[in-house]
Amino acid sequence: MIVETTKEFLDKLEQLRRRRRAVILAHNYIIPEIQDIADFVGDSLELAIKAAEAEADVIVLVGVNFMAEVAKLLNPDRIVLHPEPQAGCPLASFVTPRMLRSAKQEYRAPVLLYVNSYAATKAEADYVVTSASALQAAKKLSREYDRIIFSPDRNLADWIQEQVPHLEVVPIPRHGHCPVHEFLVSKYYVMRAREEHPNAKVLVHPEAPRDARRIADYVGSTSQMVRYIGKTDPRGEYVLGTEEGLAYRAKKLYPEAKVYPVTPRAVCINMKKLTLDKLVWSLETLKPQVRIPSEIAKKAREAVERGLELVGKKPK
Ligand code: 13P
Ligand code: SF4
Repeated sequence: MIVETTKEFLDKLEQLRRRRRAVILAHNYIIPEIQDIADFVGDSLELAIKAAEAEADVIVLVGVNFMAEVAKLLNPDRIVLHPEPQAGCPLASFVTPRMLRSAKQEYRAPVLLYVNSYAATKAEADYVVTSASALQAAKKLSREYDRIIFSPDRNLADWIQEQVPHLEVVPIPRHGHCPVHEFLVSKYYVMRAREEHPNAKVLVHPEAPRDARRIADYVGSTSQMVRYIGKTDPRGEYVLGTEEGLAYRAKKLYPEAKVYPVTPRAVCINMKKLTLDKLVWSLETLKPQVRIPSEIAKKAREAVERGLELVGKKPK
């Protein structure tokens, strides 16, 4: 039996990356082994911007499938690989194009759609936003509108409603949520983490429920939380109220900080489906490629670009 060593395996990955002229973009929740070899690690907004600016022939998006779709929307003529198409996002499945069409008719308001949604749904949106841009986008729209529709995360909708009280935020559907944040970044786990680490600042993602957010020191996207550490005290102590993978990213950037996940149970099983083995296989075979029907892709891309433009992030 010929046994390949892990070093040989990683060397093969390097050769493939160079031969394919590929760029590897990974989300902050991805396993450490991939974070360590990725060209870029970031939140959904940063991944979209990096994908738009990529100069490679091949983009490998190591995240859940809506993130790979966004990379393809912004790079229609390039090969975009998503090494594990089964890695979906249950939050994205809470909204359909039909639900948005009927909400628009009923409420006569612009739709701010969270990027955690599928391309066919994005095609029905006015603006696509991420956790890092949603609040700024809603504040801008509130200068022109009294009401917006926000979909599909009800907690993010509620957070915007709290921050921009003069704007009516209609959540579509009423119950859309991320199971990881809804059930494991709950008030109980946040309280418990505070008791275990009384000197730590507690940072929470806006997908967490209101009672958990209200006892946090800061609310922001995954990369905004990491930047908060850098700005506040890179040697301080922090509890991260989000998926546990972010703690690795934060510790890598700030090795002198003490960083704890709110609970080690806060695992997004879909993010963990992306493995090094699948990444190598994908670069070897150039499969699976992300494909989006052109009529959907055009409208969805425009909604993503309008969302980026609204917050001054549209790539040149
Ligand atoms: P970020 O854009 O903050 O990284 O969030 C993505 C996500 O899926 C949160 O669960
Ligand atoms: Fe989706 Fe939640 Fe996983 Fe983020 S953590 S990708 S919102 S299921």
